Amino acid sequence: MQGERYSESDNYFNYAVCRTPGANFADGITSKDGGEPIDYGKALEQHARYVDTLRDLGISVTVLQPDARFPDGCFVEDTAVVLEKGAMITNPGDVRRRGEAEVIYAEIDSIKPTARMTLPGTLDGGDVLRIRDHFYIGVSNRSKANGKLPPRTNEKGVRQLVDFLRSHGFEASFVEVDSVLHLKTGITYVGKNTVVGLDEFVNHAAFSQYKKIVVPPEEPNAANVLFVNDALIMHAGNPKTEAKLRAYGFDVRAIPMSEFEKMDGGVTCLSIPMQTQERLESKPAQRADRTL
Ligand code: GLY
Repeated sequence: MQGERYSESDNYFNYAVCRTPGANFADGITSKDGGEPIDYGKALEQHARYVDTLRDLGISVTVLQPDARFPDGCFVEDTAVVLEKGAMITNPGDVRRRGEAEVIYAEIDSIKPTARMTLPGTLDGGDVLRIRDHFYIGVSNRSKANGKLPPRTNEKGVRQLVDFLRSHGFEASFVEVDSVLHLKTGITYVGKNTVVGLDEFVNHAAFSQYKKIVVPPEEPNAANVLFVNDALIMHAGNPKTEAKLRAYGFDVRAIPMSEFEKMDGGVTCLSIPMQTQERLESKPAQRADRTL
């Protein structure tokens, strides 16, 4: 990529919605029962640092208040799929998370036309990986998983999302997800035609056209990277993957995420980045005129 100007305007956002973890965050859903207890004070600090990182990248962030009914409510990504000119509010797959989307609907519908998925369709936004104009959708198939990973995204949810995506001119394909919670737990896109993730996903036939960074087995949280505004927000504590991403010339922001990792959460889960009308009208603005 030496000498090319690097910018992917689809991943350039000026606005995001986040939600502060509530005092009962530790009551949320996790496959890591019996592990280290949640330090709520630390979770708040880590969340504040995450929001500051988005703001530092030029994103205006609305931080919604927690709701004690939804201990997983800070994982806002699962409640919506947002495109340039519209959004779909999902039905998160775990019934305990269903009401989380109400406040998100109110927020996003004030910004762009917002459709709603209907039951029995379910889908978690963590299963939706956009790479430029193509969407990869993780469909839960728990044949290999232990009982701690109940299915989240079903075929009826996928069908509704695909119709919605097609109505906006986008195509989609499917990837079965059985060993991790969401597709983006296993693989994410980091720009420059490159995916990063666990071996089984990065080397899946569906992703054969991309350059690949496989995370080592001791760095599974490095598979979940948030690509925004020409920068990569990743989980701190993954030195090998961080060094590889830096060596590719990426602008890497590694932030502590330990409390969210305990709840099966990652950096993509904590925000819904989007482009508002002002941003769409001013395209193709860039954060900085950089040559990589
Ligand atoms: N704790 C996040 C989830 O299970 O959905």
